[in-house]
Amino acid sequence: MIGVFDSGVGGLTVLRALVAELPAEQFVYLGDTARLPYGTKSAETVVRYALQASEALAAFRLKCLVIACNTASAVALPAVRARIASVPVIGVIEPGAEAACAASRSGHIAVIATEGTVRGGAYQQAILRRRHAAQVTAVPAPLFVALAEEGLCEGPIAAAVAHHYLDPLFAAAGRIDTLVLGCTHFPMLAGAIRGVVGARIGIVDSAQTTARHVRQALEQAGIAATGGEGGVRLLATDAPQRFARVGARFLARPIAPDEVTLIDL
Ligand code: DGL
Repeated sequence: MIGVFDSGVGGLTVLRALVAELPAEQFVYLGDTARLPYGTKSAETVVRYALQASEALAAFRLKCLVIACNTASAVALPAVRARIASVPVIGVIEPGAEAACAASRSGHIAVIATEGTVRGGAYQQAILRRRHAAQVTAVPAPLFVALAEEGLCEGPIAAAVAHHYLDPLFAAAGRIDTLVLGCTHFPMLAGAIRGVVGARIGIVDSAQTTARHVRQALEQAGIAATGGEGGVRLLATDAPQRFARVGARFLARPIAPDEVTLIDL
């Protein structure tokens, strides 16, 4: 079983990529919908929540734990690794930074994320560790989270918000050639974002690179499932019906309300 957790439904974009990359694996996904958003909370609070979510998932005899939430990956990865020491714990920041460095020619990289992810500087540090001369500009884009939850992923409102965040970013730093979508919700708005930044900017989605990273880690450890049918189990800490309704868009398949089990942390 592979555990995946996020602050809510956004991490289903990561789960979708994981299922596509590892179709024979069993997944258990926990969305901490009772305490969403993590992106506006202090690092101390996010660490506490992430440890509780990780411990709840550890009860499922995991072979790997994926922190799908960028904010939790940014501030809580070392604490979760220390607590859940028996299995590999993989966050989304390092794979996203790796993909950004591979994609960028100019070394000028922009990151859009939640306030908490930007404030902690995790993307900036992860990119600079790999590419010392990189110029990283990270800005919070919190309204994208609300738009994705509301299903307003395209059209005039999404375009206006994308202009609001991205026009100043790209006007101020003309050599940016790569944009990292450093939040679970942002791949849902990739079309609107592409419409503003144009075709010459590389858009890096940490969901896909994380899924590849997890597959490589399992294969290297010799613990990847090689056959049989995979499956997904969904857990939420509040409002399972809303999780099913909103989450269906993120997972790109219908979710029946009785597929989501309510749990307490
Ligand atoms: N999952 C969060 C992230 O990727 C976005 C939503 C939240 O703020 O909790 O940073």
